[in-house]
Amino acid sequence: MTKKIESILNQEEFTKSDLIQLMKIEDKEDLELLFKKAYEIKSKYVGRKVYYRGLIEISNRCIKNCNYCGIRRDNKKVERFSMSKDEIMKSVKWIYENNYASLALQSGERQDKEFVDFIEDLIKEIKTLSNGKLGITLSLGEQSKETYQRWFDAGAHRYLLRIESTNLDIYNKLHPMDNKHTFEVRKRCLEYLREIGYQVGTGVMIGLPNQTEEDLVNDILFYKEMDIDMIGMGPYILHRDTPLGKEWENVVRSEEKRVELGLKMIAITRILLKDVNIAATTALQGLDPNGREKGLLAGANILMPTATALEHKGKYLLYDNKPGIKDSVEKAKEDMDKKVKSIGDEIVYGAWGDSLHFKNK
Ligand code: 5AD
Ligand code: SF4
Repeated sequence: MTKKIESILNQEEFTKSDLIQLMKIEDKEDLELLFKKAYEIKSKYVGRKVYYRGLIEISNRCIKNCNYCGIRRDNKKVERFSMSKDEIMKSVKWIYENNYASLALQSGERQDKEFVDFIEDLIKEIKTLSNGKLGITLSLGEQSKETYQRWFDAGAHRYLLRIESTNLDIYNKLHPMDNKHTFEVRKRCLEYLREIGYQVGTGVMIGLPNQTEEDLVNDILFYKEMDIDMIGMGPYILHRDTPLGKEWENVVRSEEKRVELGLKMIAITRILLKDVNIAATTALQGLDPNGREKGLLAGANILMPTATALEHKGKYLLYDNKPGIKDSVEKAKEDMDKKVKSIGDEIVYGAWGDSLHFKNK
């Protein structure tokens, strides 16, 4: 087997069937070869550099009802919170003072006027506080083109909106239809973001029941076709108070297999797309204490340490056993610094670390 994988990895171009073969690798030596190749490509195209995005989870209120997510609208067990502007600005200041240079605002989805105005003001305030120096990524779900434009004009320049899965059967299983939560709408949102001029990020959940290796390759081909600049993806993790958390308890692949698939996704995405930004996500670490470092070694170059205030962290639970919810932001930073250095990557402070793919266009 190793010779075959070696020869695929030495090619300049890959067919879909090559990519599926890579996605199906199970042999440990072959996996090492795959990760090594991805790390080589990362070194060559984006450098052995890691950029931080300080993540602030500003609210767990959500109008959507995704069947996998712990903060879905119908989960009545969740204590809902929305951070005040002052609270958010405190985290922003911490991120700025710790020289992260970029932050990401994430929350459940809301489309009402109050929320849209609030975010617009917040973006302006962040820009003012940092003299325009903090790069702002938004991860606030599906919005109208006008809203995306307003937030862009206020100073946000990157947007993450995961496509979750490009297999339509899976997409529809993940998302109830009651609030027009369709694949088409989500894809159109990605197109709006591109037209407006954002650096556009997307991603999928990995290791969902009935998701095949071919589906995952199709997800990567979707990133390519949509000319995506940034990728954030991670293994699916059960949440017990969700419809799918119950239904899938006994059919989901083992945690180890989901981590392995997650790492293969990172590696193959890096090998195919080369100069994009790829995050090693918290979900990866949720299933493996060393998940994020393994992600960096498989080709990721972005980490998103949470800077959410400790009192709210425990309420932003998209899945069970979310790591780090008892850690202070300082501890999260220390841990991460050590881990990144231990694998020999350099942490770059004070620079935006924009997607080179976006710049190279
Ligand atoms: N497991 C893994 N990822 C999840 N997300 C939401 N719920 C889960 C889960 N149970 C991810 C989705 C969403 C992002 C904010 O978090 O991909 O887009
Ligand atoms: Fe809301 Fe996002 Fe969770 Fe869906 S995945 S329920 S949109 S927070």
